Formats: sequence, structure tokens, C-alpha cells
Amino acid sequence: MNLTRRDRQVLWHPYTQEKIAPPPIGIVRGRGVWLETEDGRKILDAISSWWVNIHGHAHPFLNEALARQANEIEHAMFAGFTHRPAVELAERLVAVLPRNLTRVFYSDNGSTAVEVALKMAFQFWRNRGEERKTFVALTGAYHGDTFGAMAASDDSAFTAPFKSLLFKVLRAGDLESIEQIFRENEGEIAAVIIEPMLQGAGGMIIWKREFVDGLRKLCDEYEVLLIADEVLTGF
Ligand SMILES: Cc1ncc(COP(=O)(O)O)c(C=O)c1O
Repeated sequence: MNLTRRDRQVLWHPYTQEKIAPPPIGIVRGRGVWLETEDGRKILDAISSWWVNIHGHAHPFLNEALARQANEIEHAMFAGFTHRPAVELAERLVAVLPRNLTRVFYSDNGSTAVEVALKMAFQFWRNRGEERKTFVALTGAYHGDTFGAMAASDDSAFTAPFKSLLFKVLRAGDLESIEQIFRENEGEIAAVIIEPMLQGAGGMIIWKREFVDGLRKLCDEYEVLLIADEVLTGF
């Protein structure tokens, strides 16, 4: 039995309506921009495996590093322990970040990174004795598929069934409406979350530099935290 048929008997796929979706294509190899199907066809992976494989498949440099690391230590719990790759990557990230960003907190995917950022923002105010429960996000935003990330994302067919479980997020489309929200909810907003540079899943909408700069200034002025969700831009 081929992979496609075996798959149909035991798997469900993300963002897929199993009844009407075409059967998944069995992939056995990847090299650079090419995927190879189990029946020997080559497919150009023009979406870089849903945007996560920007250096190509089976990159020899990355594979060599993976193998080397797996032989050294494949996993060490991060509460109470640390290890060289974690420290080195954080040092290199901090070196290229704006000077006031001095710490890295690792997460395991885009959605949980967003959860972590929302929780950090909430807890930042809580630690100061303020209970700020309101978040602001942009029209057309996509931040992931866990509950906090769904709340921050704009409405879609994928979030609709869960709407009653999501916390409230105020939504705005431009600097004027963001400022109005800040003015009307002073002292209540924990953070604004944006996809800087471009809104990816929302339609590859590229921001003007003035928008991001303006938002940064507004956040300083009204003392609101700014969360930059760089999942799509690879940061
Ligand atoms: C801006 C942004 N944030 C968060 C996510 C969620 O990432 P993940 O699919 O790894 O949970 C995505 C996924 O495309 C994204 O584009």
C-alpha cells in the first residue's frame, strides 16, 4: 500500500477538510527546492514547506550540523540546565538585536512563541501591580492556531468555531484607530501585537516603514508594550 493510502487510514492533516481535500501526496525525498514523490515525480517546493525551509531541503551544511549536535547532546531540559548551542545562538541573536533587547526566550513554534509573548506582556504589568487584560491586534492579522494566537488573529473560518472561547482583542487597521484605542483604554492595554515588515497569511501586505515607526512611537507615548511577531520573516 502506498503512503497516501496508508495515511488516509491513520492521519488527520492541519488546515484540511478531510472529506473534500484531495489525497495527500507521498513524499520520499527532498533536495534543494525539489521534492520527490513516491511514484518518482519531482515537485518544485515553491512555498518552502509552508515557509519554514528557506535554505532548501537536505542542505548539507545544516545536516552536518544536525548530525554533529545529535552526537554531542540531543536534548537537555532547559529548567535548571543550559547548553552550548542555546547560549551561542542567544549571544548571536542579542548581538544583532536593538540594544535594549538583551534576553532570548526559546519556544518551539510560531504559535507558542506568540502565547509566550502575550503571557510575558500580561505578567510584565501584573508584576508591577497592574492588571492589564486588553490586547490590540491588527485587521487581517495571523498569529497562529493556539488559543491566545487565535484570539490575536483576525476572524477566519479556522477561528470561527472557537470564538466563544477566545479572550477579547481590540482590532485596528491604521495608526489613527490604534491611537484612538490607546486613548479610550488608557492604563488597560497590555500590548499591541503586529507582524512587522509584512502581514503574511493576511495577504502578503507590506507595511510602510512610517507605520511601524509610528506604532513604536505611539507605544512609547501611551506606555504600551509592542510585540513583534517575526515568525513569518524568520526572526
Ligand atoms: C506571523 C505568524 N505568526 C505565527 C505563526 C504560527 O506559527 P506556527 O505555524 O509555527 O505555529 C505564523 C505561521 O505562519 C505566522 O505567519
